[in-house]
Order: sequence, then C-alpha cells, then structure tokens
Amino acid sequence: MDERVERIKNKITAYPDFPKPGILFRDIFSVLQTPLVFHDLMAVLEEKVKSVCPDVDIIMGLDSRGFLFGAPLALSLNKPFVPVRKRGKLPGELKQVSYTLEYGTDVFEAQASSIKQGQKVVIVDDLLATGGSMKAASELVKEMGGVVALCLVCIELADLKGRDKLKDPCFPFMSDLNVEFMKDI
Ligand code: PRP
Ligand code: MG
Repeated sequence: MDERVERIKNKITAYPDFPKPGILFRDIFSVLQTPLVFHDLMAVLEEKVKSVCPDVDIIMGLDSRGFLFGAPLALSLNKPFVPVRKRGKLPGELKQVSYTLEYGTDVFEAQASSIKQGQKVVIVDDLLATGGSMKAASELVKEMGGVVALCLVCIELADLKGRDKLKDPCFPFMSDLNVEFMKDI
C-alpha cells in the first residue's frame, strides 16, 4: 500500500457512539493535526483530480468540513474555489437547493454568478454518509449550468449506500465497509 495512504489511515480516529449511540464517528480533523499527513491527503486528492478531470474549471467545497480540503485543493490546482453554504450565510444573488437530513430538511446555497454555463466542477466533502448532501450539491451545480466532473470525498460510510444516490462519478478516498483504500471510480 502507498505509504501516504497508510499514514492517513492511521490518523483517522474512530469514536464509537458519537454523536449518538450506534454511530462510529470518523474524525477527519486528526489528519489536519499532523502537517505531513495533511500534505499526504492533499497530494492524493490532487492526483485524483488531475487523472480524472485534468480540465476542471471549479473546485466546490461543502459547508463546513468540505472547506478544509476544497480550498487548499483549489489553491494547489490554481482553480477558483466556490463554497456551498448552509442557508443564510452567503450574500448576493443565490441559487438554492433543499436536501434531506436524518430529521427534516436543510438548504444549501451558492452565489449565482460563481459557476458559468458548461464549467466542469469537482465537488469536495470530507464524508459521504447517506449521500444527501452530495446529491443536493450536485443538483445545485447542474441548476447553475455547470457539469459535475467528480464527487470527491475523503471517507465513505459504504454501508449507507450514499453512492447509489449519485449519478455522477464519485471517488471515495477511504471506504469503511471493505476498508478498501484508493478505490477507483
Ligand atoms: C456531515 C459531513 C458531510 C455530510 C455527510 O456534515 O461533513 O458533509 O454530513 O452526510 P450525508 O452524506 O448523509 O449528507 P454536517 O452536515 O454534519 O456538517 P459539517 O460539515 O458542518 O460538520
Ligand atoms: Mg459536512
């Protein structure tokens, strides 16, 4: 296994029964506490984008943990970073999409002028669970005239089958069902 992947895997701490009983919480913040490993993760994500969509136009990050990886990825690829935020946090003319949470619904928003017709977008988040957040972001991109080139996540909770909800290519860096790393699309 790639040495970098081994280091990343060893840094992702799992907390049983958080935030509630029965949930095994994967703490991605522990990766950021060791710069070498944070570099490893960013390098792997960058390599994936370069191989799957070398002509990407926009890197989009999902509020809030998607910002941790989306913004540095955009910077290293020298591409614009576009945030998708939860309702009421962004100024100006907005596009909105509703999405389902475990209990109730929430709204994602992006600034209307942030994506132009036909631009290729990579959507970045830390985690794919039910897939509701990523699916909503993908719908938002399409409504804004963009094309989803790749849904890029660090961790997939594979037993929740979030990937089945997505119509676009998805690359989970780490999948917890079969603990298969560097799984390809
Ligand atoms: C978490 C996680 C993903 C999303 C995944 O975000 O960071 O964005 O849930 O779940 P899903 O696939 O079932 O939609 P959360 O909404 O808890 O907010 P945060 O990123 O601000 O912590
Ligand atoms: Mg999130």
